[in-house]
Amino acid sequence: MSRHIVESQQFSPHNLIKLFKLIKTLEYHQKTFGIQEHCLKGKIIATLFYQPSTRTRLSFESAIMRLGGQVLTTENAKEFSSAAKGETIEDTVRVIGQYADAIIIRHYEEGTVARAAAVSPVPIINAGDGPGQHPTQALLDAYTIYKHFGNVSNLKIQFVGDLANGRTVRSLVYFMAKFPRNYFIFVSPKSLRMKNDILEYLKVHHWRYQETTKIQTEGIDVTYATRIQEQCFADPEDFKQVFGTYIIDNKIANKLPEKSIIMHPLPRVNEIMLEVDSNPRAKYFEQAGNGPYVRMAILKQIFAEHPFLFKREEN
Ligand code: CP
Repeated sequence: MSRHIVESQQFSPHNLIKLFKLIKTLEYHQKTFGIQEHCLKGKIIATLFYQPSTRTRLSFESAIMRLGGQVLTTENAKEFSSAAKGETIEDTVRVIGQYADAIIIRHYEEGTVARAAAVSPVPIINAGDGPGQHPTQALLDAYTIYKHFGNVSNLKIQFVGDLANGRTVRSLVYFMAKFPRNYFIFVSPKSLRMKNDILEYLKVHHWRYQETTKIQTEGIDVTYATRIQEQCFADPEDFKQVFGTYIIDNKIANKLPEKSIIMHPLPRVNEIMLEVDSNPRAKYFEQAGNGPYVRMAILKQIFAEHPFLFKREEN
């Protein structure tokens, strides 16, 4: 059984709910007793990051340490690993796979993590691959929704911002489309629309969605804001045209239903004003705080004798 985590589509809804329950238990134990079983004792996990990160790398490393494992890390692998000398990802993981028991990779190119998984002797975890996917972020996003609403179905979710390049949105849509009666609203400038592969996926699976250029407030359960990413624009003028298109302030936040939540994978630039931080709908810091528990659960499953997470079931 392969224990790689490459894309959201690989998980079944049944196993996701089981995972959420495991995360909840780990979170409760950590917050209540401050201790965890040391299921990673004797394990070394490598974090290989070719792009900057605060939350993903550090929350993975925190999770590893809390479970008794040790970390090998290169946080600027594009410059400071032998990739700078032209080494392929395949050769890199074949070697690191002999130094570590699992490898967590963030890369700037879509598909690189899948290439690594195809040859790696140890489990590979996708920590974000270019504009492709970021499945562990989506897991913590889905868990945040699950904790707040008590379920992950029958929700009206709007995604706001750069939907063309936002890998967290792509992964989260795949997850939320596994659960019944969710409705998707994609809010973006025309130049940053959600890509056709996701829209096709939703059409084929008979999901209802809407594309618009305006933030919605009526009946919305989840507003998921994203950053417009400067590095994704070849021409700085194109970036200037769309930067600041969507800024959520308290005027907008207070029009959302009381039970509604505002999320963001972070880092934010100007998408959500600081005044919203104390709005009861703001969930983004709690969302980031869920990261270590979600990643503890994933690692626990990867090294479990009989993991449920990787069992192939009907999606
Ligand atoms: N959300 C997220 O991936 O954050 P980092 O880039 O800081 O890891």
